[in-house]
Amino acid sequence: MSKDTRISMAVVRRLPKYHRYLGELLRNDIDRISSKELSDRIGFTASQIRQDLNCFGDFGQQGYGYNVKELHNEISKILGLDKQYNTIIIGAGNIGQAVANYSSFEKYGFHLKAIFDKNPKLVGIKIRDIEIQDVDELSSYLDNNKVDIAIICVPRLHAQSVADILVSKGIKGIWNFAPTDLQVPDDVIIENVHLSESLMTLSYRLNERNLFED
Ligand code: NAI
Repeated sequence: MSKDTRISMAVVRRLPKYHRYLGELLRNDIDRISSKELSDRIGFTASQIRQDLNCFGDFGQQGYGYNVKELHNEISKILGLDKQYNTIIIGAGNIGQAVANYSSFEKYGFHLKAIFDKNPKLVGIKIRDIEIQDVDELSSYLDNNKVDIAIICVPRLHAQSVADILVSKGIKGIWNFAPTDLQVPDDVIIENVHLSESLMTLSYRLNERNLFED
């Protein structure tokens, strides 16, 4: 069970990676693993792993290692993956459609319920059996349906006005793909996605090691 009520964001950012590797171990019928073995696979040091996992329970046993299933379950719970989330997408262009088509989010409990766009040419088209609705219907949809997470995939200049509607209707979780810092009240959680930042990091690392020839 949880030792600390609040886990640092640095640890939280590493948890999905633990979750993924432990899931792979489970699929391969491996039921226990030492922090050293986990470290070899995952790429964090064994002491980092012990420190991280110690934040939320006494899972490691001297001479035994970690019980993979127990740890995987606990990390799932900490990440909130033992719950079901209703999600919607606003903006059904390139990114919105790609996210909508990625059905694997469902296996973690994120269920896509509706998609909205303002382009009349897109309204009525189905993605994975979900019909794109006119964004003018967004407010009334939110009045009548429980939505836990909204995914913003509209152009930057439209993102804040979409966020304002979502906030006014009580949405507390926003996964934002638009390259802008949305202004929202403190009780609304925004998680920004920046593919370009990841690409820039790759470029830095290539150049740092002189692996790029121009
Ligand atoms: P897109 O132009 O293909 O799609 C945007 C869609 O939003 C269009 O279908 C448009 O009709 C719709 N839209 C515009 N205003 C709207 C509104 N007020 N309400 C509802 N729908 C509205 O653009 P794309 O390539 O899909 O990019 C979407 C967003 O994602 C942009 O902000 C872009 O900068 C961002 N982006 C983010 C990346 C990341 O790594 N986070 C990577 C690439 C793009």
